[in-house]
Order: sequence, then structure tokens, then C-alpha cells
Amino acid sequence: MGLYELIMKRRSVRNFESQEIPEDVIEKLVDAANNAPSGGNIQPLSIILVREPERRAELADIVGGQPWVKNAPLSMIFCIDFYRLKKWAATFDTQFKGEKALSHFLIAYADIMCSAQNVVLLAGELGLGSVYIGTIQSSMDRGREYFEIPKYVVPMMVLSLGYPRSVPKNVPKLERAAVVHREKYRVDTDAEIAQTFEKKYGSLEDTRENYFERTFVEVVEADKQQRESWADSVKEEMKKLEIKSNAEFLFKLRYPTDQMVKMNDGLFRSLKNAGFDFS
Ligand SMILES: Cc1cc2nc3c(=O)[nH]c(=O)nc-3n(C[C@H](O)[C@H](O)[C@H](O)COP(=O)(O)O)c2cc1C
Repeated sequence: MGLYELIMKRRSVRNFESQEIPEDVIEKLVDAANNAPSGGNIQPLSIILVREPERRAELADIVGGQPWVKNAPLSMIFCIDFYRLKKWAATFDTQFKGEKALSHFLIAYADIMCSAQNVVLLAGELGLGSVYIGTIQSSMDRGREYFEIPKYVVPMMVLSLGYPRSVPKNVPKLERAAVVHREKYRVDTDAEIAQTFEKKYGSLEDTRENYFERTFVEVVEADKQQRESWADSVKEEMKKLEIKSNAEFLFKLRYPTDQMVKMNDGLFRSLKNAGFDFS
């Protein structure tokens, strides 16, 4: 399969076979991460490989009870690592203050995501499926404690991998014309924007099952893997909040916008606990 086809066929996979990933394959994945572009080639990257079932279960709990993290034979925790750089600089009578320089932090986050996406693509070529788990950021303190992560190192992303048992089909995406701007930014009208998202998500009038398959495949998959009724509780919540549009579903129910803003406090606190302070 060519690279374009691989990229176009890639889907986040949340249903894995229990089959282990061989060590030589894991080494290749790590090489792919390590050979990614890096701002100034500083490489503020550390990856924690999590394979032991007990530790996978704990990681799944840390990231908010996502069953696929427990079931995936491998999770890679991508960390911004300024500890190694600070120690190295200090050894040579130099200071590195990445933990105080927002610019270093933002570039480091871009760096580790370049590395992670290299892994996603190589994994696809090697017959593996993967899914990013961003919720590690909401449990940074617990994650740092459990994985014995030192100061100046923060776990920013998890990538769970394994051989796919099933792959989601209908993941909606914006049309090419909506995301591309030629030579300068094109400001779309409100009606055009509404139509863009209508085309992406389709009608909310569809059956709830079909709607979730398209827009919130995690609840469908979680119900299959845990036999819990997450989907039912989302349906109830939709009724209670009188959700009538895709935008409301996303920003009133799935990512309630005021709660998202409130999460700042916890995030700043966790970063501070890890020695990061940009104020
Ligand atoms: C930064 C980031 C964080 C994500 N976090 C989660 C997560 O915590 N749990 C999960 O099941 N999927 C997570 N995903 C996967 C998205 O849900 C998925 O990419 C999206 O639904 C689009 O589907 P696709 O990857 O098949 O195109 C994350 C993806 C990204 C890029």
C-alpha cells in the first residue's frame, strides 16, 4: 500500500487482539519516533513502553477508564523531557530553562507529536492499529507518580497499539475545500460554516446508534468492551440538555465548554508540580 492510501485508510483502532507485538517491531517503532523532526534537533523526548497487564490496567484507569488502553498489548507514553537536557547543560556549566520558556515547551510538544505520528504511520504499515489517548494530560500528577517520572518531565500523550480486531468505518471529516485556503485566509459566512459541519456530521435526527457510530465511536466501543451503558447515559444526557445540533452535542455534552476552561487550574497545577512555570 502506498503512503497516501495508508494515510487515507488509517483509523483510530480501539479493539485489539491480545497478540503481543514482537520486540523487534517495537524497536522499529521507537526508531521511527526517534528519527522524527525536532526543533533545533534538541529531542526533548522520552517514551515509556507499557506492556505488563497490571500496569496497562493502571494506565487505563489513570486516563479515565478507557478499556482499550488495558486491552492494547502496548502503550507508549510520550513525554516532554527537559530533565535530561537540564542535567546535560548543568554538567557543562550551562543552564537550560525549558521549564520556564513557553517557546521551548510548545516546540517540544510539536516535537513529541511528530514522533508519535511517525509511530502511527509505521505501525499502520506493519499491520498494527493505534489510538492516541490525550486524557493523560488530565491525570498528569498520578501518571508521573505511578511511572516514577522525575521533575521537568511531563507525560503529554499516550499511544495505545496492537493488532486490530476491528476498525471503525465511518469517521466523518471536513471536506477538503473547508480546510484549504489559497494564498490567504478565506473568511466563510456563518451559513457556509454551518453547512460545512452539517456535511461533516450529518443529521442528528438519525437513530442514536447511527449517530454515535459517526460522531462518538468511543461510547459504542466502550459499551462493547466493558458492557457498561455509557451510550445509554449519553442518550439520557442528550435528552436532559435538549441537544438539537452537532455543535451542542460537542460543546455542551462531550466537551462542556465551561468545564474545559475550568480544567486550566488543574493543568497549571500539574505543570507546576512537575517544575514547569511560564508565568
Ligand atoms: C490529540 C488526540 C487525543 C485523543 N485522545 C483520545 C482519547 O483520549 N481516547 C480515544 O479513544 N481517542 C482519542 N483520540 C482519537 C480521536 O478520537 C480520533 O482521532 C478521532 O475520533 C478521529 O478518528 P480517526 O483517528 O479514525 O480519524 C485522540 C486523538 C488525538 C489526535
